[in-house]
Amino acid sequence: MKPGTLYGVGVGPGDPELITLKAMKVLNQVEVIFAAASSKNEYSLALENAKSHMLNGAEVMRLSFPMTRDSGIMAKAWEENAQRILKYVQEGKDVAFITIGDPLTYSTFGYVMQTVQEMAPEVPVRVIPGITSYQAASAVAKEVVAEREQTFCVISGSKGGERLKEVISKSDCVVMLKVYHHLDQILDTLQELGIKEGVTLVSRCGMKDQVICKNPEELRGKKVPYLSLLIVKKGGRK
Ligand SMILES: C[S@@+](CC[C@H](N)C(=O)[O-])C[C@H]1O[C@@H](n2cnc3c(N)ncnc32)[C@H](O)[C@@H]1O
Repeated sequence: MKPGTLYGVGVGPGDPELITLKAMKVLNQVEVIFAAASSKNEYSLALENAKSHMLNGAEVMRLSFPMTRDSGIMAKAWEENAQRILKYVQEGKDVAFITIGDPLTYSTFGYVMQTVQEMAPEVPVRVIPGITSYQAASAVAKEVVAEREQTFCVISGSKGGERLKEVISKSDCVVMLKVYHHLDQILDTLQELGIKEGVTLVSRCGMKDQVICKNPEELRGKKVPYLSLLIVKKGGRK
């Protein structure tokens, strides 16, 4: 039997209106929609974002991905979930795996796609890009991320401020995703680097409880939501 297609669909960062026409079209033409849910938290933000656009009664399945850095546990989860997806695709069904923001920017879909391609190279895979969190955040905060010959860099803050130190000398603007665990340590790094101005934290961008903070030092010692990012402009705000 001819296999169906696996679509990786970016559904935007939080505001349900920031979804592309192409993503909406795919969500209404597939038979099954997969959404990642961490094994600690069954809530899937991508699903929340997409559900008002899912009008064709596709079956929805949540896939559990453990929140761990253990590569063995992660590889096992990608393989098991790839198998779950392949079961439908190999019956000839088109399916979508939805992700917040863009599917190939710090997303579980990257691993799922690679695992599916290794396990079943004959299965067609298509990726529908999404508006990323930092594009939405720079828009609400009205912060230019790059102009003229400037260099702009996107990094992860999941291990703290070390990566920032590595890239800051070569960048005019750095966007840090996944800052929620180590915000205080990242603020220390910013101080160490002498960056006092031009730092913006955006939390839950596009949602009812969105926060735009132009002086993240105010948040020192506080817990920030998982959906938080920093825009760091080396030369300060103009
Ligand atoms: C696993 S990454 C997902 C990135 C996503 N694929 C993208 O294209 O932006 C999760 C991180 O994205 C950022 N993020 C995603 N949505 C966000 C939102 N609505 N507001 C602020 N940050 C967000 C946060 O830094 C969060 O920790």
